Amino acid sequence: MPQIPEKIHELTVGQLSARSGAAVSALHFYESKGLISSRRTAGNQRRYTRDTLRRVAFVRAAQRVGIPLATIRQALAELPEERTPTREDWARLSQAWRCELDERIAQLNRLRDHLTDCIGCGCLSLESCVLSNPDDAFGERGAGSRLLVERRR
Ligand code: FES
Repeated sequence: MPQIPEKIHELTVGQLSARSGAAVSALHFYESKGLISSRRTAGNQRRYTRDTLRRVAFVRAAQRVGIPLATIRQALAELPEERTPTREDWARLSQAWRCELDERIAQLNRLRDHLTDCIGCGCLSLESCVLSNPDDAFGERGAGSRLLVERRR
């Protein structure tokens, strides 16, 4: 990763990309989603403050563990005066996201266990395949629209 001299306070998108490891297109995407911001030069080129590096590192670390961009944006927006996240911010937020990650892992484990039954089957039946119809809470009461059938009685 190329070092950027301390005397440079603003980075071009190329410098930010090289230093952060994020593709230029990803940086433009982050900017379009409000995760980072830049000012424009007279020649309409983007310039990022140095602390944008830390914001990009924060975004990429959160993305790596599967945190949705909307959640990341919300976390960044809740920082006082939209400042760059500190080490303490990351510690606090990553702790809060742990429960969400645990739930997602449990959900994936359930899907993996059901997938074992589906391997080589291919039926994708709405009646019996848990993957095809995972939320069929009324399926055990019988076929068809159980709420309509039961309401008519
Ligand atoms: S595909 Fe047949 S049970 Fe899931």
